[in-house]
Amino acid sequence: MKFLSKRRKHSAAKPLLLVLALLAVGLGYSFVAPQQTSAETEMTQQIEEGKALFDVSCSSCHGLNGEGTTQGPSLIGVGAASVDFQMGTGRMPAARPEVQIPARPVIYSQEQIDAVAAYVASLGTGPEVPQEDQYSPEGLTAEEVAQGGALFRANCSACHGIVGGGGALPNGKYAPSLFETEDVHIWEAMRTGPQQMPVFSKDVLHDEDVRKIIGFIDAQQDAPTYGGQPIGSNGPVSEGFWIFIVGIGGLIIVGGWIAKKGARAR
Ligand code: HEC
Ligand code: HEC
Repeated sequence: MKFLSKRRKHSAAKPLLLVLALLAVGLGYSFVAPQQTSAETEMTQQIEEGKALFDVSCSSCHGLNGEGTTQGPSLIGVGAASVDFQMGTGRMPAARPEVQIPARPVIYSQEQIDAVAAYVASLGTGPEVPQEDQYSPEGLTAEEVAQGGALFRANCSACHGIVGGGGALPNGKYAPSLFETEDVHIWEAMRTGPQQMPVFSKDVLHDEDVRKIIGFIDAQQDAPTYGGQPIGSNGPVSEGFWIFIVGIGGLIIVGGWIAKKGARAR
């Protein structure tokens, strides 16, 4: 104490005290401050992993920060659901620019897709990947599935065909068949609107309606074909085609046979 009181008047005493006080506050804060939770660290790790994958596989077309280039659109604000749909159906990474980038076998693990999705979501908020209870049609009654059918015919059949078999669109584009599509990807397609498909937001179709539509599509996927060969379930187009070949073709053969073996030929 005597040591301190002796030097109290020293010219360096005040600044020294200040530094000591600051140190004490800093130390104190580091004890009180909220620690970064392990969930948050995991999150940042996932985003970093996603960014690394993105740099390698996606940035050539979508830009190093997802801002877009002449080869691909900006991904800022498209959300995790869009990435999960595009990568989960094998559309992305696109091999080259095309009129319509087709679905292909998926080459990434779901973990890698989740990481890229987390990175893209960190660029700007968009639709999130849905929880299972948002898209699973489990527990729907037959009546609700039928309502889904009505909603499908009103909103989707113009492009995808009356039971989801798919159909052609102008300029070499097409709405794909939905017979193989997974439930989660149906949800994501509706909420993110890939390519020519419109976005069906929550205001247009509530989650409950989306589940009903998925229930209807699932029922078509499992439906036995009572009418025999569905021939692509494209309706009158492919049916007319077959009638043309089998019907007219058959008539020509019969006609030729009559001409050769008929009463007149003899
Ligand atoms: C060869 C160029 C190319 C590469 C590589 C590529 N993309 Fe794309 N991407 C495109 C084009 C072009 C579109 C827009 C056309 C379309 O939607 O089919 C697109 C669309 C998208 C969309 C939809 C955007 C929206 O508006 O909803 C997402 C998400 C996406 N890409 C993610 C990725 C991810 C993730 C990767 C890497 C794993 C990737 N892309 C690699 C060219 C590319
Ligand atoms: C204006 C035409 C149009 C309408 C209306 C439309 N779609 Fe689509 N849909 C498309 C096109 C085009 C694609 C292909 C997008 C691509 O390849 O990037 C598509 C893709 C999809 C896919 C992805 C299929 C797969 O296996 O990859 C699903 C699922 C889908 N649509 C569901 C629906 C549902 C459900 C509705 C009604 C709520 C609907 N669509 C309404 C045009 C349409």
